[in-house]
Amino acid sequence: MRFDPPAAELHIHIEGTLEPELVCTLAERNGTELPYRDIDDLRSRYEFDDLQSFLDLYYATMQVLQTEQDFADMTAAYLERAAAGGVRHVELFFDPQAHLVRGVELKTVVDGISSVLAESRERFGVSSSLIVCFLRDRDPAEAVTVLKDLLEMEAPIIGVGLDSAERDYPPQLFQEAFELAARHGLRRVAHAGEEGPAEYVWQALDVLGAERIDHGVRSLEDPELVSRLAEEQVPLTVCPLSNVRLKGVPSIAEHPLPELLEAGLLVSIHSDDPAYFGGYVDDNFRAIAEQFSLDAEDLAQLAKNSFTSSFIDQRRRQELL
Ligand code: ADE
Ligand code: ZN
Repeated sequence: MRFDPPAAELHIHIEGTLEPELVCTLAERNGTELPYRDIDDLRSRYEFDDLQSFLDLYYATMQVLQTEQDFADMTAAYLERAAAGGVRHVELFFDPQAHLVRGVELKTVVDGISSVLAESRERFGVSSSLIVCFLRDRDPAEAVTVLKDLLEMEAPIIGVGLDSAERDYPPQLFQEAFELAARHGLRRVAHAGEEGPAEYVWQALDVLGAERIDHGVRSLEDPELVSRLAEEQVPLTVCPLSNVRLKGVPSIAEHPLPELLEAGLLVSIHSDDPAYFGGYVDDNFRAIAEQFSLDAEDLAQLAKNSFTSSFIDQRRRQELL
């Protein structure tokens, strides 16, 4: 399972690490009725036509997360698996709005996840930090409220991100939330150019001040944007297995990773929602290594890019590089 060289995981939604076995365990523990017969039935539904068809299942299975312990168990299970695959640093996304709408309190979510992150270094050998993602298919004012609440409760977040359904939800809708984040010294990232057009990558950079773009593969449709990304070495967190499973690209063979690298972009490899897309970061590395005949040096460069693109502190960076 272990994949060398060690890497940083920068594009991982904690709710996307909820494996079918844990979904069933939590459902039983909480007495949650699930519309699936068993684990195999649930797993058989992991076939997606696009981002929205995945999000429908992703938000539905989350209903098993009810207590602080549930969020802690999910986080610990992820860190254990990530460490086994060679991950040494994680910047973890979470989607509080997806829990708030179900009546789960913000404190339950934050305390559950952060209690495990606080000991991730000692328990799993993985340094970690937390990034709150705003759901772009919900009211932008709600994002501002959630961020204010997180700031008020002094939640241990290092940054903000933007995720969920991309088409027809341009980044500029979230300008206020991102400006508030910037005023509080938070780092800024955004999903853009996954299903949405290259124009959304421009907006993420210029309107939201995003320092890193999640996915960004559709940037290749705009040569001027490619030049900008290359010149400024804006990190792109690319998730090959996710792109294939959500039918953004037809196969790993046709994944634009070689073009992105050829254009001189700062690309690193990540897993997005590994429980749903058939692989953690090491599986993603293996898939591209095999497909594109990458050698140890190529892989070391991609792993190095993950640390370069991270928000890790200087001391830990030196330890890991
Ligand atoms: N939320 C979880 N996974 C996502 C993805 N791949 N794109 C957008 N939002 C997400
Ligand atoms: Zn993502």
